[in-house]
Amino acid sequence: MEVTSVGLTNVGVAGARPASVGPTRRNMLGFAALLAASGASRALAQVPVPPAGPHSLPPLPYAPDANEPHVDAQTMTLHHDRHHAAYVANLNAALKDQGTLAALPVQDLLARLPETPEAIRAALRNNAGGHANHAMFWQVMGGKGGNPTGAVLAAVDRDLGGMDAMRAAFSRMGLMQFGSGWVFVTVDRGGKLALAARPNQDTPLMEGGRVLLGNDVWEHAYYLKYQNRRADYLAAWWNVVNWDVVAARYEQARAGTLGV
Ligand SMILES: [Fe+2]
Repeated sequence: MEVTSVGLTNVGVAGARPASVGPTRRNMLGFAALLAASGASRALAQVPVPPAGPHSLPPLPYAPDANEPHVDAQTMTLHHDRHHAAYVANLNAALKDQGTLAALPVQDLLARLPETPEAIRAALRNNAGGHANHAMFWQVMGGKGGNPTGAVLAAVDRDLGGMDAMRAAFSRMGLMQFGSGWVFVTVDRGGKLALAARPNQDTPLMEGGRVLLGNDVWEHAYYLKYQNRRADYLAAWWNVVNWDVVAARYEQARAGTLGV
């Protein structure tokens, strides 16, 4: 099964841009300020019309309320339409005048960060990471939780001690992640799974790895509903994991076709 509704294999590479939406000088000055900040959240209230492409915001693959009551619709809307959109806008701003880098899929850009110009490397790290992480995040949600079957269940049993142990360790790592960050289940070409946590918008994609699924433990992911109760959010999140999508991602990882 190929998951195409949200651009699994080509996230971030937008189509041609309409001639009528070219960046104005005012917009570009605004983006220079955003870029200098290198952090999306501070600029959410003043995100100008972004320079179009090369990366684009993938649509949510379900309605904003699809993950209720565990993840509320308002959080989903703000998270996708503001936070993720800001990472995409800032990434595109950083890639202005970077023809070769701008042509790369976001996962390849992340894997080649050390080769990128130092002046924009932090912006690329934060915003390409933010784009890739969130594009993955929307995909693996929208389900009914429970347990996987087949190859994913076998891999969890083999590599992570079973579903209960995996969920407990994953949630513990998410809780222990100081400040903002992510917790992931990674998958290699052989199908082997591992747990990983990263700060900020870092991702195993930066080491050439692949993510099977991951949860966002930035406060913007849960604060409206859970306030400071990150542990409750981590526990509830398992109820919305879409194991059908995860199974498709697992097969794509083994085939070498998984993107973000
Ligand atoms: Fe987020």
